[in-house]
Amino acid sequence: MHIGILTGGGDCPGLNAVIRAVTLALINECGAQVTGIKRGFLGLLRREVMALDAPAVAGILAQGGTILGTHNRCDPFHYFGAGGADVSAQALDYARELGLDALVAIGGDGTMMIAHKLARLGLPVVGVPKTIDNDLCHTDRSFGFDSAVAVVAEALDRLETTARSHGRVMIAETMGRYAGWIALEGGMAGAADVILLPELPHRLDAVVERCRQREAREGYTLICIAEGARADGEGLTVAQTVADSPDPLRLGGVGAQLARQLQPRLQSEVRATLLGHVQRGGSPTPFDRVLATRFGWHAAELVQAGSFGRMVALQGERVTSVALDLVAGRNRPVPAGHELLAAARGLGVSLGA
Ligand code: F6P
Repeated sequence: MHIGILTGGGDCPGLNAVIRAVTLALINECGAQVTGIKRGFLGLLRREVMALDAPAVAGILAQGGTILGTHNRCDPFHYFGAGGADVSAQALDYARELGLDALVAIGGDGTMMIAHKLARLGLPVVGVPKTIDNDLCHTDRSFGFDSAVAVVAEALDRLETTARSHGRVMIAETMGRYAGWIALEGGMAGAADVILLPELPHRLDAVVERCRQREAREGYTLICIAEGARADGEGLTVAQTVADSPDPLRLGGVGAQLARQLQPRLQSEVRATLLGHVQRGGSPTPFDRVLATRFGWHAAELVQAGSFGRMVALQGERVTSVALDLVAGRNRPVPAGHELLAAARGLGVSLGA
């Protein structure tokens, strides 16, 4: 058996742990040949691969990033390198030339969509859900999320001490695209006083009111805002539009914008910190190392069972799998009835309502 592995989309902590687990499980359990495709689907077009064996994956469990490299703009069905043409046949030809029996695609929604389309064209595919945003459908967790939340929590811990010392309003802006998972869990883990999510457009007046209450009582305020959050009636804050990208909106700057809106209405100084790619870099948390390892092993089991067109998923405590067509092209926002939202409200955290 000859199996290919690739990592697509933005990187995140835990990718190497999956690569290691898939490689070791396939070699140990069925003596498979394993080949890494470099830089996501681009490697199938540019014919760039590397052999994966036990020495190649030694020592990478705790390493951030991906030893295979990745790409978040290469879609063979709409390839910008060829003016947006469908060059998927080239990718499939190369997979056939390599003699791949199956491909393990580790990625987010974009990668799952491409994997699903390739599966429909006859390439046996297994998907593994990766994204710090935690917004993939039918899995309670994607690996990378816990590591990002840990960064946000630590940042808020640090912002708290300086906010308290100076009597300031400190705003931390998280990633997460159109989902608020990172801001919600990170904000709760870091004891934010105000948490603003894309799913719940906020009222500026409500945020001002909470900051004023805290100015009078505690003397400082911590705000955690997701990059995709917006005030009622306002649009997204876009840092940049990116040509030749499946997602042309690069979000960023909503924290600084909120600081500008709040400052004239408060006595305390308001400062914003953009956490940015710090949330995506570095070593995975122990939780993500274990989750990624479980996902990788499960993907190897699916491959050996010939169970293709599926994505590995965590449902409750159990690792299982779901059909790729249930996942492709969909996202999972924080549901309005989520327990942590209720807990936040119960503890007096303002969600900007
Ligand atoms: O999807 C993961 C993510 O980190 C988002 O949270 C963020 O909006 C985006 O990727 C940033 O992508 P890039 O690295 O291309 O700017």
